[in-house]
Amino acid sequence: MRPTRRKFVQSILGASAALGLPAVFSACSGSSKASTATAVSSPLRQFGAPSETVFPKGFSWGTATAAYQIEGAWNEDGKGESIWDRFAHTPGKIKNGDTGNVACDSYHRWHEDIALMRAMNLNSYRFSIAWPRIQPSGSGAANAKGLDYYSRLVDALLEARIRPLVTLYHWDLPQALEDAGGWPNRDTASRFADYVQLVAQALGDRVRDWMIFNEPDAFVDLGHLEGTHAPGRKSLLDFLRATHVVNLAQGEGFRALRAVRPSARVGTAFSMSPCEPAGDSEEDKLAAERAHAITNTWFLEPALRGRYPDALAFLPETAMRIEAGDMEKTRAPLDFIGINLYYRTIASTPGTMERFSHTQEWLFPVKMDGGQQGPKTDFGWEVWPKAIYDMVLRITRDYNRPVIEITESGCSYNDGPDPSGAVRDSRRIAYHRQYLAALGRAIAEGADVRGYHAWSLLDNFEWAEGFSQRFGLTYVDFKTLRRTMKDSGRWYAKVAAENRVGQA
Ligand code: FCB
Repeated sequence: MRPTRRKFVQSILGASAALGLPAVFSACSGSSKASTATAVSSPLRQFGAPSETVFPKGFSWGTATAAYQIEGAWNEDGKGESIWDRFAHTPGKIKNGDTGNVACDSYHRWHEDIALMRAMNLNSYRFSIAWPRIQPSGSGAANAKGLDYYSRLVDALLEARIRPLVTLYHWDLPQALEDAGGWPNRDTASRFADYVQLVAQALGDRVRDWMIFNEPDAFVDLGHLEGTHAPGRKSLLDFLRATHVVNLAQGEGFRALRAVRPSARVGTAFSMSPCEPAGDSEEDKLAAERAHAITNTWFLEPALRGRYPDALAFLPETAMRIEAGDMEKTRAPLDFIGINLYYRTIASTPGTMERFSHTQEWLFPVKMDGGQQGPKTDFGWEVWPKAIYDMVLRITRDYNRPVIEITESGCSYNDGPDPSGAVRDSRRIAYHRQYLAALGRAIAEGADVRGYHAWSLLDNFEWAEGFSQRFGLTYVDFKTLRRTMKDSGRWYAKVAAENRVGQA
């Protein structure tokens, strides 16, 4: 989930008004209070730190990364160009002109990275496979060198007693498929299923736990409507079509994987954020439910229930190119729900003046903002531990206590080495301590959460922000590529070893 995600409704609505298309979201009638980004929850309602939180036996402690953000080697061993290569090589798209050409060079330094995870006592590693390493032009036979790289990585992880938790798609579509129409093109769903089959055949004898997508809502929205991520499109129609094709691909990918490996455990990592009404009015409560549907279940309901969320009163089926029988095809009975969670969302209805001055808010009164009460990370994201508790319990309630994995949570603080070389990132320790305490509370209240993956093992290429945002438990000097475990990495090692979080 990304900060720009909050602009979602405004952009879709602006675009739809501009195109004269029907609204995706129903208008909310009646008077509305002036919108505000201030939450009703007071910081006092955040949890006090419990003396300690003990996690269930067998809990997975891990970190998460993504291929384009860490691997580098963008054109080695037969790898094809991805949409992120193309996007980052286009002047003006990424802060400071940064690219993932080298990134953390994990393609060559993965031994070091596994050694870091061992030193952190971790037993789970979430990483992604770069589709263009496997199929350089997005279809056809597998590139043996690409598969070998991941095969060696998987073997080394198993040797280190670290579970490989594999994301099949973390945003790096082969450029050749983009040239053929990309995610808005229905054929891409079948191409994706072919790719999944190749990977499952090659690695599925050793990998048991898979994720189909990382944050489908983020790459569909930011890449096709807002244009701030690859492939940089800004089109409502592309956004609507890509939404549906990605939902179809989730179903097809699920079936392709299961056909090859019937005992595979399959999930998707969804970006989630609990949506709180800004005020007590019925309109704000309704807005919060709409925000929940848009943010959290837009790609989950089609998988689990074969439908788009109820909160959207009108679905532009023709514009989305939904065909008869499609909603059966989107079904993917996921074995677990991956939750990426960083912050909460405050939902409100636009005020009368705003409605008059912004056509889109008159037509579609849903506004989403970040909370303003908690401290902010260097990225400007609000630290709000209760968000993880609220979200996990809501999913637990609404989906009949599914198995949940926290597939990402973390914070950007740009602390560097002090004169002694140590990286004293105490704010990161505080973040994970509080989020884990809140998660422990959700587990105590009945949620079936099996693991936590800190984003990230390493400082890395943070998409449009380039190298300007550091999320790692390990500091990376991007000139020398030297890795230095931060204080937070040492702290996390203790948590993983003891399976508990103690007091500060
Ligand atoms: C998530 C992405 C991940 C990373 C973190 C900070 O939205 O899944 O790749 O960029 O944000």
